[in-house]
Amino acid sequence: MTNHIPNIAIFASGSGSNFQAIADAIQNEKLEASIALLVCDNSQAFVIERAKKLQIETLVFNPKSFPSKVDFESMIAQKLIDLNVQLIVLAGYMRIIGETLLKQFPNRIVNIHPALLPSFPGAHGIKDAYDYGVKVFGVTVHFVDSGVDTGTIIDQESFKMDNFMTIDEVEEQIHKIEHQIYPKVLQKLLHR
Ligand code: GRF
Repeated sequence: MTNHIPNIAIFASGSGSNFQAIADAIQNEKLEASIALLVCDNSQAFVIERAKKLQIETLVFNPKSFPSKVDFESMIAQKLIDLNVQLIVLAGYMRIIGETLLKQFPNRIVNIHPALLPSFPGAHGIKDAYDYGVKVFGVTVHFVDSGVDTGTIIDQESFKMDNFMTIDEVEEQIHKIEHQIYPKVLQKLLHR
């Protein structure tokens, strides 16, 4: 029998709350997809525990043990091809995607960013926006290209800051939005 449920791979380096939200959406039948693989570049990341609990295959690698990015991305690409992965989902993966993966998966890599791009790209989007003093915060889901958070925007959601919101409260609200928007966007992308 043919399997019509698309395979995705999630790349993460940290806590994995977005990984969890995507897994939960699949469990709750809000997202028709199968997480074929977790790719993680940090052996201490909590996301690995989450994947184990869900019995999702993980590929944990140490980038430093490879001669170059081309080498570790080639290893990852082969694994993704073997597993018939159709979409790469970056969820807190703290590494710039190189040409090997970009060429192998053109327009099939997406990322979530905790700010309203093109403002505040990079690793500290929430803090940068908060320190700047913006009053509207948000989340962006975008395709990945060779730049840092520069690819075509797929969807965004914003909220206006209440008076006296601390950075922790802003961050909490951003994560809440992330956990809703990412599964929704993935469902649309995979089944359009
Ligand atoms: C999220 O805020 C995401 O927008 C950013 O990295 C964070 C990952 O959080 N790219 P988590 O590991 O999914 O909890």
